[in-house]
Amino acid sequence: MRRLFIKTYGCQMNVYDSARMAEVLAPLGYAVAAAAEDADLVILNTCHIREHAAEKVFSELGRLRKLKLRRGGDMVIAVAGCVAQAEGQEIMARAPHVDIVLGPQTYHRLPEMVARASRAGGRVLDTEFPAEPKFDYLPSPTAHGPAAFLSVQEGCDKFCTFCVVPYTRGGEYSRPAGAILDEAAALIGQGVRELTLLGQNVNAYHGRGADGAVWGLGRLIRELADRFDGLQAIRYTTSHPGDVDDELIAAHREVPRLMPFLHLPVQSGSDRILAAMNRRHTADDYRRLVDRLRAARPDLALSSDFILGFPGETDRDYQATLALIDDIGFAQAYSFKYSPRPGTPAAGMEGQVPEQVKEERLAGLQRLVAGQAMAFNRACVGRRFPVLLDRPGRHPGQLLGRSPYMQSVFVDAPAELLGSMQVLRVTRANANSLAAVLDGGAS
Ligand code: SAH
Ligand code: SF4
Ligand code: F3S
Repeated sequence: MRRLFIKTYGCQMNVYDSARMAEVLAPLGYAVAAAAEDADLVILNTCHIREHAAEKVFSELGRLRKLKLRRGGDMVIAVAGCVAQAEGQEIMARAPHVDIVLGPQTYHRLPEMVARASRAGGRVLDTEFPAEPKFDYLPSPTAHGPAAFLSVQEGCDKFCTFCVVPYTRGGEYSRPAGAILDEAAALIGQGVRELTLLGQNVNAYHGRGADGAVWGLGRLIRELADRFDGLQAIRYTTSHPGDVDDELIAAHREVPRLMPFLHLPVQSGSDRILAAMNRRHTADDYRRLVDRLRAARPDLALSSDFILGFPGETDRDYQATLALIDDIGFAQAYSFKYSPRPGTPAAGMEGQVPEQVKEERLAGLQRLVAGQAMAFNRACVGRRFPVLLDRPGRHPGQLLGRSPYMQSVFVDAPAELLGSMQVLRVTRANANSLAAVLDGGAS
């Protein structure tokens, strides 16, 4: 038996891909190891979104080099994901101890790559965008617990001026609905109760439906809910405001098992900056869209992404972002200092913002969002809702799950309830989680 260790950076798509890579390699006798120290094959599944993310990969490669030397060279090291796609040649040149470099679209070929690297000691670079999508070659998935990710869409054609994703993941691709329904059936058959549909731009989904028509994401969600009674919660991420259509809004109104939470990145509240980012929406477009979504699902909780210190961002632009946040009221949000990425248009723009200004704006925005998140969490105290208890908590006797609104909820509960959906009553709000008690049995 051989051992495999995969370290995953970046977004949920990478988490999904890492699980699929392990499945592709299982027939070769690879079992998952707990640490790189114990592994014959180590894969770093990397993220290129910000400079900091890419740097971490090179420092991890330094550590792996020593491990490999200690094992007399008897370790295959592979770099996968978005850094591999963007900087494949450079990794090959700079890190001779790396045996395999593969992009996000070629991991179905891992068995051949590993065979070549271990047999002949040859090095492999495969960052192609193959005509035949990898999904056609992947084995049926294995569930790891009651909640699962399912990639339905990949890539992006939006070309926001700050973003590497269109280059690292390639153009938009939607999987045929039949393949998605089959994968969902396999997961639900293994006890999965909650599915999160994934895509870099998931609501741009437009796959060939079982009936030959093109289905949007709203239709796909409806079909999943209709076909699978055992599926108790559906979520999706990440969405672009420009691709929210009437059908998706209707799904939020009419499909109760579609959870009332939406991560809808806006990036900025300034129209000038949004235009420079090539976001193709204004701040008011976003406000109107949120109004329509909330009209369909009044308790919808919203989350977003923000970039602070995009080139040319003035204090006025920053104030416009704060004003948008005030208007919307977010349940949570992610925020980042702008990070210039090689090859993207914004990296060469004038008016790069000093680091210290970025930091001040980031801190100010995070204070505002933290206040909103705390208020949202407090408003949940006393409420009852069903929660899938999918993980053990940090303390013994505790289980953890996600509220319908995506907050982490922890509860004292016997271990045999792990994997079940229970009605909980919220007793306390924290900054980033809720405490609850069992209240009313299985849902
Ligand atoms: N597809 C999603 C997000 C992809 S990346 C969308 O369209 O919104 C996740 C987040 O990383 C982005 O929403 C953005 O806020 C942030 N991000 C992307 N590129 C960045 C950069 N160059 N600097 C800082 N943050 C960035
Ligand atoms: Fe990147 Fe999202 Fe813009 Fe696509 S829509 S370029 S993934 S930020
Ligand atoms: Fe990172 Fe690639 Fe995801 S750059 S955020 S791992 S699509």
